[in-house]
Amino acid sequence: MQYEPQNRTFDCEPTLTDSQVLEFCREGYLLLPGVVPDEINQRTCDYLEGKIEANPSFIPAGMTAEDLARIRASHEPSTILLEDWFIEYVLLNAELTGAMCSLLGNNVGLPVLVSHHGVECPQPAQGWHHDADYIFGPELNFVEVFYFPQDTPVELGPTELVPGSHIGSNQREPEKDGVSCHGPAGTLGIHHQSVLHRRSASTVTGYRHMLKYNYWRTVPPQRNWIIEEDFELQTAYYGGHNVARYVGHMFHWLCGKGDEYRIIGGQGWPWRTENQIGPSYGFEATEGYLPDWRKNNPDGYAK
Ligand SMILES: [Fe+2]
Repeated sequence: MQYEPQNRTFDCEPTLTDSQVLEFCREGYLLLPGVVPDEINQRTCDYLEGKIEANPSFIPAGMTAEDLARIRASHEPSTILLEDWFIEYVLLNAELTGAMCSLLGNNVGLPVLVSHHGVECPQPAQGWHHDADYIFGPELNFVEVFYFPQDTPVELGPTELVPGSHIGSNQREPEKDGVSCHGPAGTLGIHHQSVLHRRSASTVTGYRHMLKYNYWRTVPPQRNWIIEEDFELQTAYYGGHNVARYVGHMFHWLCGKGDEYRIIGGQGWPWRTENQIGPSYGFEATEGYLPDWRKNNPDGYAK
C-alpha cells in the first residue's frame, strides 16, 4: 500500500473479484466486521469524547489551531482525519483499502469531512431515507464508509439498509426492516451513498458512536480488480426485472465501458434466468437503449 500524504491519496492491490464488484453494484454495500484493532477503537471513542489531546499530523493550509478546535467540537469532527493513528489504522485499514482500490481505481482520495452520529440509547428507529444530495446513475465516483468504534449489536441501533435501493428513489414503511449492519467494535461498512438506510431502534442503555465519511475516485474507471477466469460479462447475474439493466450499466461503467452500454429490453441481456438453455440475446448490441436512471429527476440533478 502506498500512501501519499501530500495529496492525501493511496494506492494498493485490489482485493475484490469480478463477482464481488458486481455484488456491490447489485446490493449497494459491503461489510467488514471488526477489522480495526481494539486499541484504535478505544482511542477513537476517547478522541470523540474529548478525553485525549488532539495531535494533528499537520495543520491544513489556511487553517489555525482555533479552527481545528472548533471543528473537533462540532458534529463533524473532521480533525480526526489528521491524527496519524486514525490515518494508519482506520482510513488506511488494509481490508478497506483493497476494496476501495477495487471500486475506485488507483490513487483513491481520502475523506475531507467526517460526520459523527453519536446517540444516547435507547432510541426509536429513524425513518428510512436517502442521505442529502444523493444521485442516481451508473457512475461510482465516491463511496461512503461508516465506522463503529464500539461493539454495536442489534440492541445498540446499528445502521440498517435496504440492499439494491441505491439505483432509484425508494420509500419504505417504518415497520419494514432491512439488513442490519451490526458488528463488533472496529466494524467498517462500505455503501453506495444513495442507498436507503436508517439508524435502527436501540433497546439498551449506552452511547453509540458512528463515524461516516467518503472516499473519492481520482482516475477514470477500468476493470483493474481481480479478474476471475470463469466470469463472463454475458452470463453474469445482474439482478431481476427492472434491476439488471441498472446494475449492468454500473458494472460496465466501472469496467470503463459505460459509453458502449446498450440494451434491447425484455428478456434480453443483461437480464437472464437460471432456466434458460442459452445465453440472453442482446449482448454487445451497438444500438438500443440506456436505462433511465432518474426518471423525473427525483434526485434533482439535470444532465
Ligand atoms: Fe442517513
